Amino acid sequence: MYDFLVIGSGIAGLSFALKVANKYPEKKIIILTKANEDDSNTKYAQGGIAVVTDFDVDNFEKHIEDTHIAGDGLCNPKVVDFVVREGRQRVDELIKWGTQFDKEDNGTYKLGREGGHSEFRVLHHKDVTGREIERALLQKVHETPNIEIHQHFFVTDLITQHHLGRMITRATTNNQCFGVYALNKDTNQIEKIISKITVLATGGFGQVYRSTTNPTIATGDGIAMVYRAKGKVSNMEFVQFHPTALYEPDVSPSFLITEAVRGDGGILKTKGGEEFMKKYDKRESLAPRDIVARAIDNEMKISGEACMYLDCRHMDFDNFIHHFPNIYEKCKSIGIDVQKDMIPVVPAAHYACGGIRVNEFGQTSINNLYACGECSSTGLHGANRLASNSLLEAVVFSHRIAEHAIEKIKTIEVDETKFQEWDTTGTSHPKEMVLITQSLRELKDIMSNYVGIVRNNVRLKRASERLYLLFKECEEMYNTTAISPQLMELRNLITIGYLITRSALLRKESRGLHYTTDFPNHSEFTEETVL
Ligand code: FAD
Ligand code: SIN
Repeated sequence: MYDFLVIGSGIAGLSFALKVANKYPEKKIIILTKANEDDSNTKYAQGGIAVVTDFDVDNFEKHIEDTHIAGDGLCNPKVVDFVVREGRQRVDELIKWGTQFDKEDNGTYKLGREGGHSEFRVLHHKDVTGREIERALLQKVHETPNIEIHQHFFVTDLITQHHLGRMITRATTNNQCFGVYALNKDTNQIEKIISKITVLATGGFGQVYRSTTNPTIATGDGIAMVYRAKGKVSNMEFVQFHPTALYEPDVSPSFLITEAVRGDGGILKTKGGEEFMKKYDKRESLAPRDIVARAIDNEMKISGEACMYLDCRHMDFDNFIHHFPNIYEKCKSIGIDVQKDMIPVVPAAHYACGGIRVNEFGQTSINNLYACGECSSTGLHGANRLASNSLLEAVVFSHRIAEHAIEKIKTIEVDETKFQEWDTTGTSHPKEMVLITQSLRELKDIMSNYVGIVRNNVRLKRASERLYLLFKECEEMYNTTAISPQLMELRNLITIGYLITRSALLRKESRGLHYTTDFPNHSEFTEETVL
């Protein structure tokens, strides 16, 4: 039995594990992760981490205000306040653990700016900030003796009181988590892993859409598991589309052109060179993401073009290469010279603002189960996340969860002999993988065509009906065939599609990332959507 079981090895899972391991060297911590240990959204983060460091020009109040404006009236003020204020210390810890952020010659941090930020405040490591954070955290985890990290363990379900024969419904208030079942991909066996405390840090679900900046691991597994275990999820309708993914038809995941390029002066234009953002918002190319993504989507529909363009030709070339070497190289590799050519861009699904509903200490509605990072819905982002607030949220909450769980664990007793092994009776190995891949394709088409940037009731209802058919087919496969990661990911993504669509139907207004032509304005309804 473990003291702390962590699912996921991105910034949320790794920073939580380091916190408890360092403070309690006698505690046993295990991290399970379904792919290679560095496969995560974290690794792909480009722009950086938003935190106030230059108090001569910036302050916490401005960062708080920017977060609220982007969140379009739905952020939880208390959460915004503590994330912004506590963030500074947490970023110092990232630095202490070995993360290197770019500095000016005088030793101060180089600060980037992104959409919705009133000041330059984004710490970064060139345009590969996430790679640097992931590197530093993994190195630290490997040096920490009381953390075990197991790659290629696909967590399939939470173990809760349901597995002790208790009837659990969504109204049950004292359901409890005791660990997980996980498919060991090397042995193809499902293992039972019991723990006093479980922390889900499973990331987002961009893979439910055809075009996404998220790597293949982003299939919403943690959120779907919690929903299956009758836990609460919230704000699932708020899916953030990043305005500027590189337009490369049939390439998945889409390569991101960080918003920091616009922060340094890049301008969005039509093919003919019109600066179309002037028509939509006075902040032009640096308006919050929901506004810019919708504007691009609209311009593409009006013109019939497959993409819009980011013009960087007027920018200082040496600075560009220095800040964005990865983008420069990527563009060059597909024949785009950023000094001479505009960069073709399209919006792509990028970030889950909703997820597993948690309180200010990361506690879910299931006892002894916490959620951290992109899989959680903390109240920070409201209806639209401010750029570079995600990495910040993950480190602030991993600290809060650690502080809370360290006390909580003293009260937990678990008898691990009570839980049964995974039951495989009545299942056989799947004969046709095409059943899974075709359903996945259909799911992505439904979500992209009917539940994308601009929605309406007819499309949402059609999506619901189609999703129900996919759900029924998938459940039949699940009940009769042996579990595989592909089948589980499909099952989880169908649940995610359902949760997004259902939440979107419930929100009878347009707010932040949820824009519906049936209700184009704000309503008085400013609550979160809870399922
Ligand atoms: P992740 O880093 O996604 O980690 C999830 C982990 O869970 C992975 O290890 C995965 O393998 C594991 N996992 C999932 N399901 C299972 C399962 N069933 N069993 C076992 N393991 C599982 N945010 C910013 O603040 N600033 C940025 O500059 C920025 N840039 C971004 C650029 C890109 C291209 C993308 C995609 C995102 C960006 N974001 C940025 C968002 C940010 O990177 C993520 O929100 C954040 O890294 C999420 O961290 P996490 O630890 O919650 O999840
Ligand atoms: C980007 O660099 O544009 C992405 C930042 C983010 O998603 O917060």
